[in-house]
Amino acid sequence: MPAVKIDALDPAPPSGVGRAARIPVASPAMPRASDIAPYLERIDSAGWYSNFGPLVLELEARLAARFAPGTHIVTLANGTLALTLALEALSLPKGSVCALPSWTFVATAHAVRMAGLVPWFVDVQPDTGELTPEGLLAVLPGAPGPVAAAIPVAVMGRPMDSRAWRAFQDATGVKVVIDAAAGFDSAAAARVPVMVSLHATKTLGVGEGGFIASEDPEFSTRLRAMTNFAFMGDRISRHVATNAKLSEYAAAVGLAALDRWTATRNRYVAAARRLGIALSDTPEVTFQEGWGSDWISSTCLVRLPAGSASRVEAALEAGGIDTRRWWGSGCHMAPAFRDCPSCALPVTEQLAASTLGLPFFADLGAEQIHRTASTLKVALAGLQP
Ligand SMILES: Cc1ncc(COP(=O)(O)O)c(C=O)c1O
Repeated sequence: MPAVKIDALDPAPPSGVGRAARIPVASPAMPRASDIAPYLERIDSAGWYSNFGPLVLELEARLAARFAPGTHIVTLANGTLALTLALEALSLPKGSVCALPSWTFVATAHAVRMAGLVPWFVDVQPDTGELTPEGLLAVLPGAPGPVAAAIPVAVMGRPMDSRAWRAFQDATGVKVVIDAAAGFDSAAAARVPVMVSLHATKTLGVGEGGFIASEDPEFSTRLRAMTNFAFMGDRISRHVATNAKLSEYAAAVGLAALDRWTATRNRYVAAARRLGIALSDTPEVTFQEGWGSDWISSTCLVRLPAGSASRVEAALEAGGIDTRRWWGSGCHMAPAFRDCPSCALPVTEQLAASTLGLPFFADLGAEQIHRTASTLKVALAGLQP
């Protein structure tokens, strides 16, 4: 499989390293044109291209079947809009505070601001990198204003306890939306709304897309209206909303991806196991708990010796191996969010300095694994005083 550029800003390889020799950090596992073709034929026959056509409804039904009975799925144009509109659908007072970890992709914080709320960055747990209900409860008394919402984030798709967050919501009145952008495989319950991204870089992708799973039918109806000009089965626009619908073409890709999900998942799991074996004699490198056995995602985030991420990154780069600091230094360091209120973030800062995304994709080959593991081991040996 060719190395796929995942965004237009991917840096060019440095001179001296052949393009073919580089190992990309990611390579999407999208369905082939031939897998999608039968669904495109259905679009041609029906002449229905968007606005909740049969393919979108079928995709939503098949996604709902992955959750507990009674779960509603609303598909949207992408995961960032899904978070923004989920917050809007909760009708929170504008200018109120939304707690979120700084240890997330900037999309989470952008969604909070776009929804007219004030992001408040809270620190995460050292073992998982996750914001927990207990962690948030402990800092709530020091909040910079009335806290209306919270968005805990599933770290690289790690399973989240939506039941515990529901208990937190019931106890505090703070509305919770879980950002499980990379959690297609692990998200199975939606006691509070759960967002899953369907971006091409995720394990199940449609290109650009996302969905919100929720057990609350009224919330899902309001969210659906937010994606379609606040129409509710008529052409009366009831409040400010937008167009964030998923087209039939994107749904065609999603259905084709679902048809082969079991095989795709097996490929990711096999690649994760091979990488785990190659690094099993390197205790300084640890994977996320359960990754590759209990759950899978399209990214491999490893924990390295404290503070060593930059040096390991540079050594792998010199060896023609791409890595990614997926969440940079945390959202609080991005110019867009430097003015936002924040708790002290020592754990976030430690994680930013000691975690790295290694090359990982469904077709990661034996030679690529061997090269990544051996270059990593040399880099780690070079860290010794
Ligand atoms: C944690 C997190 N939240 C939100 C998003 C946004 O999803 P999308 O790219 O579908 O807008 C991403 C995307 O990778 C993400 O990693």
